[in-house]
Amino acid sequence: MKLAQFIIPVIAFIMQPIIVPAQSIDDQSVKTLPTGTITRIAFGSCAFQSVPQPIFRTVANRKPDLYLSLGDAIYADYDLKKKIPYDVTRQTLLREWKILADSPDWQYLSSRVAVMATWDNHDYGHYQAGEAFSLKKESKKIFLDFFSEPDNSIRRQSAGIYDAKIFGPDNKRVQIILLDTRSFKMLPKLAQRPEGSGGSLGKFTPNSDPDARLLGDAQWKWLEKELKKPVQLRIIASSTQIIADQKHMDEWGNFPLERKKLFDLINNSFNSPTLLLSGNVHFSEISELKTKDYNLIDFTSSGLTHTNDTYAQATNKYRIKGPFSDLNFGFIEIDWEDDNGPSITLQAIGLDGTVAYSLKKNFNALSMVK
Ligand SMILES: [Fe+2]
Repeated sequence: MKLAQFIIPVIAFIMQPIIVPAQSIDDQSVKTLPTGTITRIAFGSCAFQSVPQPIFRTVANRKPDLYLSLGDAIYADYDLKKKIPYDVTRQTLLREWKILADSPDWQYLSSRVAVMATWDNHDYGHYQAGEAFSLKKESKKIFLDFFSEPDNSIRRQSAGIYDAKIFGPDNKRVQIILLDTRSFKMLPKLAQRPEGSGGSLGKFTPNSDPDARLLGDAQWKWLEKELKKPVQLRIIASSTQIIADQKHMDEWGNFPLERKKLFDLINNSFNSPTLLLSGNVHFSEISELKTKDYNLIDFTSSGLTHTNDTYAQATNKYRIKGPFSDLNFGFIEIDWEDDNGPSITLQAIGLDGTVAYSLKKNFNALSMVK
């Protein structure tokens, strides 16, 4: 055996972080948020906590400035062995988040890369939970504790977990907006479908009632203010898809008036190039809405530990990239020095680091229609 063959694995072993089980969910070693120019952002959604999550190592090894966790960071309400949902309690929520806190793969990522997070249904606590969820306060505290939200943070006081931060120097500001699509959400309208048919595809139908609520008044007011802040690049992330609307799963299309309100708000706000991000569907795709009124891109990545080919085959008339239905995360690379003006390259990346598809856009192609 050559010496190098022996030494390299030994050095690699020594360089591994020492995995110490967290005493509690907020007892993790985490990377603090970046202070310099942002050039790389990774995001993903949908990971079972009780199975290995090697893709978190692939994410970390790409050295992003930030990782955005866009929902279903755990499946708190699902027994993976028995394949059945169950009712959560504060104790089961704590127990399941602790499994993620102790995951060597999660620790590998969170000790190296700063994380911002919002939730979807399963990490909120129930697959159908919305504004009426009985454990919403407890779940919020546990979620914010897990993601090391400071005690004096505004997020601790506001209803919901929506969040926004601006990174970088004055001429390279990137704003990250994380929406909360669970805390204020009314139950979407169920589709009429044949007795016995189930599954997530086709479950809901659009509800055009003016009272149908997804974000809620407080979050809309907050969002309006955030969208007035001038930045070089704005990224708005939602747990569920914003543009694609033909799956009739959990998606913004179930709330058409709320969706129109979001698009109009983006258009009427300060004209900052804007990119939408989403998760939830267990595969990856890019959707583009290009009309005389709107010019928007929604980059979806979902499926860190599991994916779904059937969902990926569902029609999406807005799709311009994908579907990619192997394990994946999304990656955004910003080139501030591009000859034609700053640009972003969006990449869907698989477990082994291979790029499944990519799309490059200059900032000025992400601007709103006036
Ligand atoms: Fe999921």
